[in-house]
Amino acid sequence: MINPIEHLKWRYATKKFDATRKLPEEKINILKEAFNLTATSYGLQPIKLLIIKDQKVKEDLMPLTMHQMQVQEASHLLVFCVLTGIDKDYVTNYFELVENTRGTSKTILAPFRDILIDEFKQKDEKEIFAWAKNQAYLAMGNLLTICAIEKIDSCPIEGFEPEKYDDYLKLNEKGLKSVLVMPVGYRAKNDFFAEFKKVRKDITETIIEIE
Ligand SMILES: Cc1cc2nc3c(=O)[nH]c(=O)nc-3n(C[C@H](O)[C@H](O)[C@H](O)COP(=O)(O)O)c2cc1C
Repeated sequence: MINPIEHLKWRYATKKFDATRKLPEEKINILKEAFNLTATSYGLQPIKLLIIKDQKVKEDLMPLTMHQMQVQEASHLLVFCVLTGIDKDYVTNYFELVENTRGTSKTILAPFRDILIDEFKQKDEKEIFAWAKNQAYLAMGNLLTICAIEKIDSCPIEGFEPEKYDDYLKLNEKGLKSVLVMPVGYRAKNDFFAEFKKVRKDITETIIEIE
């Protein structure tokens, strides 16, 4: 088994993908499972992943992504979205899923469920959006690592126009808002960024140990 640090050193924010190479279905399935297994606050999973394979759609989205070519050259484009309808019903449904999955009784679950319902009632739309967006970042971090382990190249992208993505992909109708983008596939042989040394602070600057 390769040292996990070697996987992390192998990955880089890919600038040029090989447009002729497509990810096999098995790799996409691993990304789906890994996304769904991401830990989220309270386990509420207020996120959804759009996986775009269609070339025309990727080409249409490229200009809405600061003209970053990775979006159309990559094998697949992942769009991380947050759910907009986090309300009492949403929380109640989650607790029903816990009950059905684990067989935990309603009596045991009810106090925690009511605390969460109350907590979300006190948050406004902006606060819930910010909370949900944090979960999307976590999911992207998770997938970046999984990609590295699976030798899938990727580029995390914040540089895009979320409202325009939402319009183009009709995300509002689905109760979603886009928050992050991540093209995945295989690096092009001539992506000279692959050869660049990693720029990182010295580890002593980023870690504090209290012993
Ligand atoms: C949240 C986030 C947003 C990013 N947005 C972009 C982007 O829009 N375009 C891009 O080319 N790289 C983007 N990057 C890549 C970073 O510039 C890159 O990860 C960083 O410079 C470290 O380099 P490395 O990932 O190659 O090790 C983003 C990274 C993160 C984590």
